[in-house]
Amino acid sequence: MKIDGKTRLCGLIGNPVEHTLSPLIHNTLASLMEDNLVYVPLLVSSGYLETAVLGANAMHVLGVNVTVPYKSEIIPFLSDIDSLAEKIGAVNTLVATDHGYKGYNTDMPGLLRGMKADGIDLVNDNIIILGAGGAARAVAFMCADAGARNINLLNRTFDKALAVAKEVNAVYGPDTIIPMLLSNYHELAGKSYLCIQATSVGLFPESDSAIIEDAKFYQMIHTGYDLIYRPGITKFMKLAKKSGAKTFNGLKMLLYQGIIAYELWNGTSISEDMAVVVYQKLKDELKSDE
Ligand code: ATR
Repeated sequence: MKIDGKTRLCGLIGNPVEHTLSPLIHNTLASLMEDNLVYVPLLVSSGYLETAVLGANAMHVLGVNVTVPYKSEIIPFLSDIDSLAEKIGAVNTLVATDHGYKGYNTDMPGLLRGMKADGIDLVNDNIIILGAGGAARAVAFMCADAGARNINLLNRTFDKALAVAKEVNAVYGPDTIIPMLLSNYHELAGKSYLCIQATSVGLFPESDSAIIEDAKFYQMIHTGYDLIYRPGITKFMKLAKKSGAKTFNGLKMLLYQGIIAYELWNGTSISEDMAVVVYQKLKDELKSDE
């Protein structure tokens, strides 16, 4: 990598940022595309978010990703927001404009692109979303936005499932999302489902847990899609596979949210051949983690 007077800066703001895989994604893309840019983690301490956004803008930082805990908190400091990001209420990508940063959410289009790459069709399927936190809420919006209709959202705390359903249904129509108590999953028997696991259960180092252990649940699903990618094979995926389901982790979502952000910053289009190169690098990096 050659850094000179024309090198553009991109980076990730969040707290913490040291475990991020985004530099690997973006610096690999920059090198494949022969773009003169460098991507670094930028730790922002609590209370300094607005200062960080103003400072990045003042220094003509080309592109910024945003991670925990700032994805919603950052919205008031932007000059504009994309409509999907506004609906979801979370921004993970800032694109420089003449007046400040415009906020986008590339997590959800990233998940959609990753699912398409894996041959998953949301629209004509029966869907179960597990969870009602920030990630599940965004997935619920994405499924509704993609035109899916039989979407069941199951959560340990019913009130949170109900709140997400109300929010999504206010935009996409009544009964787009059907909220349920997690333990009532047996009421869904009789159909075969694509199940998107959007809780934190099973995330490293708690790799020995799955949100549902009952084999009967896994017999109801034909595909188990876990948003977690550390570990690469979660207990949820193991149980789903044991019951004959196809399984996927969240690594493609990570890959494509990065690719879409890179495309927005640079006005380019990343080919699937390049996506494959970056995906392999991510897999190698996670393997060396184990
Ligand atoms: P994120 O932003 O990653 O989605 P979050 O907003 O903290 O994280 O949400 C965590 C989700 O995981 C919630 O749906 C939570 O269920 P509750 O709403 O009932 O708290 C779910 N979750 C976490 N631990 C869980 C557990 N042990 N069993 C079932 N659900 C769990």
